[in-house]
Amino acid sequence: MRLLVATRNPGKVRELRDILAAYPRLDIVGLEDLGVPESPDEDAVEAFQTFEENARAKARYYTALTGALTLADDSGICVDALGGAPGVRSRRFAGEVESRGLRQDEANNRHLLRLLAGVPPERRTARYICAAALAGGGWDDVYVGECRGVVLDAPRGTGGFGYDPLFYLSEEGMTFGELLPARKSEVSHRGRAVRAAAEALLSERRG
Ligand code: IMP
Repeated sequence: MRLLVATRNPGKVRELRDILAAYPRLDIVGLEDLGVPESPDEDAVEAFQTFEENARAKARYYTALTGALTLADDSGICVDALGGAPGVRSRRFAGEVESRGLRQDEANNRHLLRLLAGVPPERRTARYICAAALAGGGWDDVYVGECRGVVLDAPRGTGGFGYDPLFYLSEEGMTFGELLPARKSEVSHRGRAVRAAAEALLSERRG
């Protein structure tokens, strides 16, 4: 079964491909494999206030464009001491730095640390949330995964992407920036959501 993994974020692409490698019946293709050029319309698609709605909108957009059964991920970090911010605004929390990549991630992390300056460890709790949406071939469904941790006051590790060097899991004794990628996928919001989507795909006939 061919599945388009529709994201332009290199960190997400890596993780989604790793997670889905456990399902050899799924033939994974990316936007570049289908020759889908980057368009300014893509950003306008995820204009909603919830991860679920954004993920669904992205999956519907790319299946309409390509005709392929599509999986799209909308995700972010929700920090309790900030009333759940940045949430669906995680990607550009510090304002737009450059279109994508390391400098944006670094600016977001610095911004988050500034906002949490002086907040004690017990009040620095946060959740990563991932909504993985399927669209096309009779599918129009969203699966949500969550992962709880604490925002440290300085980065640790260079793995993962985004807020990972600040996101500490007490059960692991490490940040997502320090954890091996395979272990991150086992316990992460993305791992949980995407495995639920893959298992549904492989266990139900639709369309
Ligand atoms: P989206 O592309 O609108 O879904 O934005 C996702 C943003 O949330 C990313 O750019 C990161 O800033 C953050 N994010 C989501 N998942 C992760 C993760 O697994 N690690 C680190 N940051 C993440």
